[in-house]
Amino acid sequence: RSADGRLQLTLSAALGKVKIAGKDATALSYNGSLPGPTLFLRAGDRLNVTLENRLRDPTNLHVHGLHVSPQGNGDNPLLSVGPGTSLDYEYQLPADHPPGVYWYHPHHHGFVADQIFGGLYGAIVVQDDQPIPTSRERVLVISDISLTPGGRIAAVSVMEKMMGREGNLVLVNGQLNPRLAARPGERERWRVINACTGRHLKLRLDGQSLQLLGLDSGRFRVPAKVDEVLLAPGNRADLLVTAQTGTAVLRALPVDRGSIGPMMGGNGPLRSSAGRSGAVLATFTVAGAPVATLVPVPEQQVPRDLRSEPVAARRELVFAMGMGMGPGTGMMDFTINGKSFDPARVDTTVSAGGVEEWTLRNTSLMDHPVHLHVWPMQVIEQAGLPVDTLRWQDVVNVPARSSVRVRIAFDDFTGKTVYHCHILDHEDAGMMGVIEAR
Ligand code: C2O
Ligand code: CU
Ligand code: CU
Repeated sequence: RSADGRLQLTLSAALGKVKIAGKDATALSYNGSLPGPTLFLRAGDRLNVTLENRLRDPTNLHVHGLHVSPQGNGDNPLLSVGPGTSLDYEYQLPADHPPGVYWYHPHHHGFVADQIFGGLYGAIVVQDDQPIPTSRERVLVISDISLTPGGRIAAVSVMEKMMGREGNLVLVNGQLNPRLAARPGERERWRVINACTGRHLKLRLDGQSLQLLGLDSGRFRVPAKVDEVLLAPGNRADLLVTAQTGTAVLRALPVDRGSIGPMMGGNGPLRSSAGRSGAVLATFTVAGAPVATLVPVPEQQVPRDLRSEPVAARRELVFAMGMGMGPGTGMMDFTINGKSFDPARVDTTVSAGGVEEWTLRNTSLMDHPVHLHVWPMQVIEQAGLPVDTLRWQDVVNVPARSSVRVRIAFDDFTGKTVYHCHILDHEDAGMMGVIEAR
């Protein structure tokens, strides 16, 4: 990172030997480690990434949640980088880019779930203007994978793809149950990313005091005291942990995310992190001499509240699953407004600069976490009830047979990008649409 705010790096995507859960495995990775390198940025920075594709399949790069241009070699999910080739990406963050935790991952339609499940992901932190005093910062990238006894990525069945695959290992920074240590009174900032392809994470750290600084994009005006945090695939949490003496376990509790429906032979509800006590993610041990408590977190300036702004257009996006109509597939259709993804079609055209209100409606029996690139969504109504905290998310879970209302300000950029379900098997199966701002 140079003094004038430019960051330059190469990400080389390859299949090879990596350490997973402390053992030798053969998986995908950026630059040989899983997760890939963490990028620390500031508003106004320019990020140049050379993506090298050493895979057998096409890939590309997406900077999830960053408010950057979708045009050209920017955050363009419609680009393809063929095997053996490379591409130079350039991302310019606006001077008022919200702080927060973001991430990068491949986005080549048809390969997204396999490539992320296989190990391609990494964290991006956009630093605050005024840092919060903490004892320590941690980035926790939570992912899941299934490995064969020989340490290779396990095959995934058609049924698992329909449900959204969940790996049987849940990893934190590529490790199983890492040990984290602190002294009582220390304040840690945990930036948690749900990089799982289909697994929802209901996180708890019983015995410790948790405050949520923000979700996805930006920060709340004041931190919210929480007991648990629910992250759909793609969501991130910016957490403050004030350490209290004892040993606490970071767990992912079971989450009911609906079912595939009787017609496809789906048996019973689908639960992320099955088992009564859920998956153990990490162990946090707090011991030793107490340290003095730090000063309170200063109030954060929040950007606009779209609830009080005029709306230029209202739209509805309907997320549906149905029996496949394609010739002899027997597969399920995953559609938005009745259509499955076609990169050559523009599904939604918006006027740049306007504020829109979107109703995200899910008519199926399973949850769909809905993600929009480039522009964060302000959640204004969930299950018919208004949302009172000002919350900006780029992934909003829409539970089975319900709807969520959001407002979006189509600021700063024009061009084409996408929205889709962040259960990446659903995205690969067609639950994605093209949006153009002009
Ligand atoms: Cu995290 Cu369109 O992706
Ligand atoms: Cu994204
Ligand atoms: Cu979905």
